[in-house]
Amino acid sequence: MSRKNIAAGNWKMNKNYEEGLELARGLAAKSVGSNALMILATPFIHLKAVGDIIKDASHIHLAAQNCHQNASGAYTGETSLDMLKSVGVSHVILGHSERREYFHESNELLAEKVNAVLEAGLTPIFCCGERLDIREADTHVAYVANQIKESLFHLSEADFGKIIIAYEPIWAIGTGVTASPKQAQDMHREIRQMIAGKYNAATADNCSILYGGSVKPANAVELFGQPDVDGGLVGGASLKADDFCAIYEAF
Ligand code: PGA
Repeated sequence: MSRKNIAAGNWKMNKNYEEGLELARGLAAKSVGSNALMILATPFIHLKAVGDIIKDASHIHLAAQNCHQNASGAYTGETSLDMLKSVGVSHVILGHSERREYFHESNELLAEKVNAVLEAGLTPIFCCGERLDIREADTHVAYVANQIKESLFHLSEADFGKIIIAYEPIWAIGTGVTASPKQAQDMHREIRQMIAGKYNAATADNCSILYGGSVKPANAVELFGQPDVDGGLVGGASLKADDFCAIYEAF
């Protein structure tokens, strides 16, 4: 997969069914398609209906916020990749910091989920990022490198080429504190160098690396203007059609 500009909206556990469909209708009506991808990571319960709403908007794609690593079976409350595929999901967010923190998802488990998503023929959006104490101790580059190494670097070059990475410093998520464009660029460049070191320069250059953490219309242009920032994974500002369209148009 070649490098793309991407605005991905992570609705998290927000919007009831009707509210979610209204948001999707607004996005389908208001956003003007471009070379950039818009990805909507809705709650599971909205996926099928949102998929129907966006089916004629070829720039908008459907994502799940998580999946189970096993194909099927006795896993009460979980959702399989086959189920997600059957309603038109093309992307799956993996390893969001909220999943890591509240649901104890480890780098090892995430490696299994990455494998399962790739095997299903879908695209993982792999999240990484450090807590504030790690940033303050100036060990954030090594921390993120380890997340990537333990969950992704077992992949072949061909499979790694199918991954989207989202760098989301935890101290910037939902806090209103955004990483500065320089902080985002510096880490994205580090990530690209890690990929070049493990694979090669072409694989690193082709990888889409998104920034996440309080992206909003007012900072998207500057963030997305950084040479190694290919777009954003957006929480709060993806819940309003006008705001998310403005972010999508920031490329
Ligand atoms: P935020 O969330 O944009 O509300 O900070 C980003 C995310 O968690 O993906």
